[in-house]
Amino acid sequence: MTKYIDTKITDKETEHSLPVLDGTMGPSAVDIQTLYTNEDMLAFDPGFRSTASCKSAITYVDGDEGVLLYRGYPIEELAEKSTFEEVAYLLMYGELPSETEYAQFTDTLGDLSLLHDQVLSFYRGFRRDAHPMAIMVGVVGALSAFYHDRMDMSDPEQRELAAYRLVGKMPMIAAASHTYHIGRPIRYPRKVLGYAENFVQMMFGKPHVEYEIDPILVRALDRILILHADHEQNASTSTVRLTASSGANPFACMAAGIASLWGPAHGGANEAVLDMLTDIGRVENIPDAVARAKDKKDPFRLMGFGHRVYKNFDPRATVIQQSAKEVLNHLGLDDPLLEIAMRLEEIALEDEYFIERKLYPNVDFYSGIVLRAMGVPTNMFTAIFALARTVGWVSHWLELTAEPHGIDRPRQLYVGPTLRHYPK
Ligand code: ACO
Repeated sequence: MTKYIDTKITDKETEHSLPVLDGTMGPSAVDIQTLYTNEDMLAFDPGFRSTASCKSAITYVDGDEGVLLYRGYPIEELAEKSTFEEVAYLLMYGELPSETEYAQFTDTLGDLSLLHDQVLSFYRGFRRDAHPMAIMVGVVGALSAFYHDRMDMSDPEQRELAAYRLVGKMPMIAAASHTYHIGRPIRYPRKVLGYAENFVQMMFGKPHVEYEIDPILVRALDRILILHADHEQNASTSTVRLTASSGANPFACMAAGIASLWGPAHGGANEAVLDMLTDIGRVENIPDAVARAKDKKDPFRLMGFGHRVYKNFDPRATVIQQSAKEVLNHLGLDDPLLEIAMRLEEIALEDEYFIERKLYPNVDFYSGIVLRAMGVPTNMFTAIFALARTVGWVSHWLELTAEPHGIDRPRQLYVGPTLRHYPK
């Protein structure tokens, strides 16, 4: 039975019933679509704290309980048992693949993993010291100029091809952003290798020596990719959806997503975490950093702490903390930043300020430590996040374009000057 909530606007003395929509899990949503037409009134929710911008069947997050499900499967199970390619298939198609489906999927991704040779000239146009994310925004957007031939987005086959191209080419795009930056020749993917293996060999391999792939590091990277693959309507995914709602080219939509992800409040956080841990420098300096984070006059925040949705442990942080220990053990590294991170976590979790505000470590708190141990430079952290999240963006883009609801066009509460006339 449809539920309604009754709204009464007192000065108008009108009453209006708004239907309540139930999802399969999580809070219900009041359908306010008729509010403006019937009441000449808008809903005000800057930051979208109480707004469901769409219906989606891809990812479920329960921030109070610390739950993250991809198509119903808990992230912890996927991180332990699955591969990134399998998770990519799951997110895009809604079900885990059969053996044949998996083979076809990885085969097609492999076929489409190579960049058009002319794309490489875009890299050469960037300054050597350009940030890899700046290069990625540009190069992914530029792909829209390469594949405009088959871009009828009302055709499911063409949509699928665009999705495969995006997911398939992203490892080379991300790895080349790094090799260009350090002045090493851009390497090509090899179809026999898996997704994470290919990225690693393109990122670290040198033309004059054989690159030996370390399976433990590849597994750790694969896990990072799985953990970052999707997170429902976060800023970058919402950016992709909003951009796509106008019917924009899919490569341009992904470039918009990458731009949004780059910010330090979103995907740039793991880079910011390492900078912060390096600045803290010693365990003895932690209390000062915590005091600064609590001081409202100081803009400093504990990077890697807090989340718009999780008001409990980020389940991804627990998995990645384990990965950090495994990778450091395997490499025989004793990273002083890990010690600072673990101590900082302990101190913050016992502090009233963080307890009251439900500020827990998020996924980025430890992912930087794993990536650093693997030899990934800090400026590539967000690029790797973008590599992983492309699958989520593509899945949301496929969901939206399969059932378009028209252009997204938020309204505003206008607080500017009222009508006035140009002075003579
Ligand atoms: N350090 C110190 N105080 C914090 C922190 C932090 N990291 N995060 C939130 N707070 C405080 C705020 O100052 C605010 O305090 P107040 O109520 O006294 O004013 C309160 O906690 C609530 O904070 P909001 O900013 O309202 O929380 P919001 O949900 O808007 O922000 C965000 C979430 C942006 C992630 C924030 O916690 C933050 O800046 N964290 C650091 C950056 C970070 O780690 N980002 C990665 C997010 S995860 C991801 O993108 C994969």
